[in-house]
Amino acid sequence: MTAAAELIDVTQRFGSFTAVDGIDLAVPSGKLTTLLGPSGCGKTTTLRMIAGYSAPTSGTIRIDGADSTRTPPEKRNLGMVFQSYALFPHMSVADNVGYGLKLRKVPAAERRARVMETLELVGLAHLADRKPKKLSGGQQQRVALARAIAIKPRLLLLDEPLSNLDARLRVQMRAEIRRIQAETELTVILVTHDQDEALEMSDEMVIMNEGRIVQQGSPAQVFPRPADRFVAEFLGYENFLTAADGTPLTIRPEHLRITGPIAGQGDGLEGTVADVAFRGVDLLVSLDVTDPSGATVRLLADVRGGPAPQPGSRVTVIAPDDHLIPLPR
Ligand SMILES: Nc1ncnc2c1ncn2[C@@H]1O[C@H](COP(=O)(O)OP(=O)(O)O)[C@@H](O)[C@H]1O
Ligand SMILES: [Mg+2]
Repeated sequence: MTAAAELIDVTQRFGSFTAVDGIDLAVPSGKLTTLLGPSGCGKTTTLRMIAGYSAPTSGTIRIDGADSTRTPPEKRNLGMVFQSYALFPHMSVADNVGYGLKLRKVPAAERRARVMETLELVGLAHLADRKPKKLSGGQQQRVALARAIAIKPRLLLLDEPLSNLDARLRVQMRAEIRRIQAETELTVILVTHDQDEALEMSDEMVIMNEGRIVQQGSPAQVFPRPADRFVAEFLGYENFLTAADGTPLTIRPEHLRITGPIAGQGDGLEGTVADVAFRGVDLLVSLDVTDPSGATVRLLADVRGGPAPQPGSRVTVIAPDDHLIPLPR
């Protein structure tokens, strides 16, 4: 794997507070990598250090193999898009997109060609002469993206770029950014706190908690094998129980099956239905179950088809072995 950017034992402190705590990270070239984690875990701080807006307290940042720890942002050839698009309101869409090229003294004819090519890429060529305030939120977002891409950056850094869009547009833009990344083969680092966004968009996902990287891998590697309870909870695993030997286990709600009343000795877990919520095609059933260690745990089963279990009824819950995931103690 070629790394477009590498962080080696990078720490960022603000006074006595450690926002980023000795992280090692290799960002693969030509791929989309997400930094995923809850608010305050250090994602933006990490991105700002990669961009050069703040220097790490300690550690090394390499871009294309060269030590860039103290290189100023304008010498790093990076494109950035933030949550707020910060378009220049008095400039047309085309001038916004061409701004970085103008700064780099790209001749006017070439600039125009690059601007139009980039606007084609984001589907906005027909709006080249508009002012940003005449555009929808989604269109402004594309202009910001086009402005960042027009300079053909070595890295494209996106900090929660979709969080100001409404839910439907946000989902559309995920696919759109994915397509643009694939067409341009840009190296993209995208910061998000939304696990669905990360799972859908990432080649590589880097999960952070309290300034540290807790797991890294492709969605197909990470999702079925969360490294610990924090990652499991963050990715939507709701059920935590303990094996007879004390190993913590997790299982997804859609992998639990409810049979009833009691299937028999040793086969499944006995429990009581606490609550049933109808959700259109499926049912969410809360259960109080005796787990293999003998503890009573609240489990959530996502059930499709079959009659709805009655609250208060005794049932047997099947947690298939191949879906039970062991977690570290
Ligand atoms: N300039 C700063 N001074 C002091 N604390 C900061 C500064 N920037 C960020 N922090 C703190 O560092 C932590 C991580 O922040 P940030 O990287 O913005 O988190 P995220 O982007 O994951 O939500 C937060 O607790 C935040 O309050
Ligand atoms: Mg942030």
